[in-house]
Amino acid sequence: MWSGRFREPLNPIFENWQASFRSDVRLLALEVAASKAHAKMIAAAGVLTEDELAQMLGGLDRVPGAAAEAGAKFFNIEVFVEAYKKHKPGTGAVFGAQQGMVALNPHIEDIHHFVEVTLTELIGPLALKLHTGRSRNEQIATDMRLFVRDAMDATIKGLRDWALALISLAEESGGAVIPSYTHLQRAEPVLVAHWLLAYVSMIERDISRLTDARARMNYCPLGSGAVAGATLALDRSIAAKALGFDAPTPNSMDATSDRDFLLDFTQALSTLGLHISRFAEEITLDATAEFGFVDLPEAFSTGSSAMPQKKNPDLTELIRGKSARLLGASVTLATLIKGLPLAYNKDLQEGQEPVFDAADTIAGILSVLPAFTRSIKFNFDRMRTAATTGYLNAMAAATYLSNKGVPFRKAHEIVGNAVRLGLETGRELNDLTLEELRTLSDAFAEDFFAAITLEATLDCHDVVGGTNRARVGEALAAAKHRLRDNS
Ligand code: ARG
Repeated sequence: MWSGRFREPLNPIFENWQASFRSDVRLLALEVAASKAHAKMIAAAGVLTEDELAQMLGGLDRVPGAAAEAGAKFFNIEVFVEAYKKHKPGTGAVFGAQQGMVALNPHIEDIHHFVEVTLTELIGPLALKLHTGRSRNEQIATDMRLFVRDAMDATIKGLRDWALALISLAEESGGAVIPSYTHLQRAEPVLVAHWLLAYVSMIERDISRLTDARARMNYCPLGSGAVAGATLALDRSIAAKALGFDAPTPNSMDATSDRDFLLDFTQALSTLGLHISRFAEEITLDATAEFGFVDLPEAFSTGSSAMPQKKNPDLTELIRGKSARLLGASVTLATLIKGLPLAYNKDLQEGQEPVFDAADTIAGILSVLPAFTRSIKFNFDRMRTAATTGYLNAMAAATYLSNKGVPFRKAHEIVGNAVRLGLETGRELNDLTLEELRTLSDAFAEDFFAAITLEATLDCHDVVGGTNRARVGEALAAAKHRLRDNS
C-alpha cells in the first residue's frame, strides 16, 4: 500500500501486531459500499469511463462473495459458504468465513487494503484506480459511521421490542400491586404496571439519545482525503447520497479524526446498560425466596451442578455483568480521544474493537431480554400482601388528615403515633378502632377506613405520573401508542 518510500522490509512481528484486519474484517460489506460510492464520485469527476465504472462496481459487488468463499474454504466448511451467501444469522457462518479470510491473508493490513487486493484479483489493474483521490483515513471514518448507524438502528429496534414486552407485562398485571421502595425499605403500594412503566420511561430516553446521536453523525466523510480534502474536484454529495448520509461533512480535518459518534454511541449504550442492569438487579432480587415476587421462567434459568434445588437467575446476572462492558467501551473511547492532536492518528484504530464489542454486547442482551420479560411470572398474592402490610398506607392516612384541615406536619406526627400504637399491639392502621384513633386526633372519622384501603392508597396519587389507577391506565395507553404505533 505504501512501500514506494521504503527500502527496508517491515519487521514481521510489528507488521502483524499493527494490522487491524483481524477485527476490521467485519466491516467488509460496508467498505465495499463506501468504495462503490467513491467509485461513482471519481467517475463523475472523469477518472473512470462509464465502462470502467461498471466494471469496478461489478467487481466490488463480487468481493464479499469471493472473499467469503475463499475464507470459508480455508476451513473447508461448505456450510459456511452457503449460509454466508444467504446471510443466515446465528449459524456462525459469517464468523467462520471471516476468520478464514484473516487466516488466508496474513499480509493484509486492514479491510481497506483487503478490498483493494481482492478487487485487483477479480478485475485486474483497473482496480488500482479505485484509490484515486481518497485516503484510508476518510475510509475508516466512513465505514465506522456506517457501522454505528446500523448498530443504532438495531439497538433502537431491540429497545422498542423490550419496551413493548414490558407494556404487555404491565397490561397483563391489571390492577396488581407491588410495594415501591425507597432506601430499599417498603414505601407505598404502586401498581405493577406503574413500576414497569418506569423502565419504559428509561427506554424512551435511551431511544431518544440514540436517535439524536444518529442524526448528528449522519454526514459523509468521503472526499475529505487524508486530512486537507480530496485532491480531485469531487462532487461529495454523490457519495453522501449513495450511502444514505444527509450531506458531506463540513471540515476535512474534523471528518478524518472525529470519533464523537463512537463516543455518543457507546455513551448512550452505557446509560442504557445501566438501566438494563437496574432492571436485572430488581428481577434478581424479586426472584429470591426473601422477596418471592417473581417466578423465574425455566427456559431462561439454569440449575446448579452441585445443589439440586437451585434455579438461578443467570440471565439477569449476566445482563448486569455485561452492562460493565458497555461502560468500559465508552471509557476506552473517551480516554483514546483525549489528547489526540488533529487530525488522524493511528491511535484511533484502537477505537474500533470496543465499539464492535459494545454493539455485539447490546445485540446479545436485546436478543434475549424481550422474550425473558414476556415470560416473567409474578406471584401477585405475595406482592399484594407485601404491599398491604407494614403501614404502607401511612402516607394516605396523613393525606386523609390533611384533607380534614390538619397541617401536614401535624398529620405526619399523628399518623406516626398511630403506627407506633399498631406496632406495639401487632395491628395495621385499619385494625385500629375509631375510638383509639380519636385519642390521637379528633379529625379521625368513620370515613378514615375508606381512605386507607389499597385502592384509595393508590388513587390518592391523582397527578400526571402518579400511581392513581386511571392515571396509570392513561400512561400505559399513551406509552403503547408511542412505541407501537409510532415506530
Ligand atoms: N486501519 C486504519 C485505522 O483503523 C485505517 C486508517 C489508516 N490510516 C493510516 N494513515 N495509517 O485507523
